[in-house]
Amino acid sequence: ATTLGASAAQSGRYFGVAISAGKLGDSTYTTIANREFDMVTAENEMKLDATEPNQNQFNYSSGDRIAQWATSNGKRLRGHTLAWHSQQPGWMQNMSGTALRNAMLNHVTQVATHYRGQIYAWDVVNEAFSDNGDGSRRDSNLQRTGNDWIEAAFRAARAADSGAKLCYNDYNIDNPSHAKTQAVLAMVRDFKARGVPIDCVGLQAHFNSGNPVPSNFQTTVSNFAALGVDVQITELDIQGSGTDQANKYRTVVNACLAVARCTGITVWGVRDSDSWRASDTPLLFDNSGNKKAAYTATLDALNAA
Ligand code: G3I
Repeated sequence: ATTLGASAAQSGRYFGVAISAGKLGDSTYTTIANREFDMVTAENEMKLDATEPNQNQFNYSSGDRIAQWATSNGKRLRGHTLAWHSQQPGWMQNMSGTALRNAMLNHVTQVATHYRGQIYAWDVVNEAFSDNGDGSRRDSNLQRTGNDWIEAAFRAARAADSGAKLCYNDYNIDNPSHAKTQAVLAMVRDFKARGVPIDCVGLQAHFNSGNPVPSNFQTTVSNFAALGVDVQITELDIQGSGTDQANKYRTVVNACLAVARCTGITVWGVRDSDSWRASDTPLLFDNSGNKKAAYTATLDALNAA
């Protein structure tokens, strides 16, 4: 097949992209997004600060623009994200204890209910583990409400939308031997053992020179899948250019294709200039919308599966 989405579909997978509501008027951008991808994630529009700017006053205008664009162009939608320490609205940043716990659960319930029936998978909880190398939870106002905040969020999401797959999503969980990866594996294993509703793990996969694609990335994908959850590569971008970047994309794509329960890949933006770290030129299309070597490597890997 000649597009990323159609090529991924040959093995029952999707190939997605993060899009921004503010760019939906850019025809170069929308032409590529519509042609190449069959799943979309809102880059910012469904986050906490966007959807609940004042407590209990929900604003779905930008999120709905993304959802509408997806529906009208025949794309599925990943939801990002219901509970996160970052991009909290100001009113939430200063909350704590039971009041914060209840506000977080209300947020999960309201947003998941609003989008019920439209979401393939929700990133229910995002980035809850620390990077300090000991596998501990990240300190945050949410963590300080009690270690069970993550499972509480998952139970609320399931109650609100029983049709969406519920994912835990994080970065720096790509190397199978790192403490952070081991800690997330242990949490998922525990959730499955105790019947906490979790269906998938999202590996963000933001790679750069300081955080390279591990040679055994496939082992990580398969270790998560072995716990009985789907795995999705949710925010892929790789610093670099030319053949070297193309080879790294090929490694990541092949790791997903080699694991039956790796159900899809999403890149975190359309063109390099759309990236949150544009100077790394980490995406599949250059600033003018031309296909890069990384695009061709990705397409060829999908077609070889
Ligand atoms: O929209 C406002 C604009 O009105 C204002 O003038 C401008 C001034 O700073 O800010 C604009 O908002 C920015 C927003 O992106 C939209 O461009 C925010 O400041 C900026 O913080 C925000 O960055 C986003 C970042 O998450 C925030 O945490 C990036 O676009 C987005 O790509 C990035 O995505 C995250 C995932 O959600 C989670 N995983 C990591 C990933 C990369 O950081």
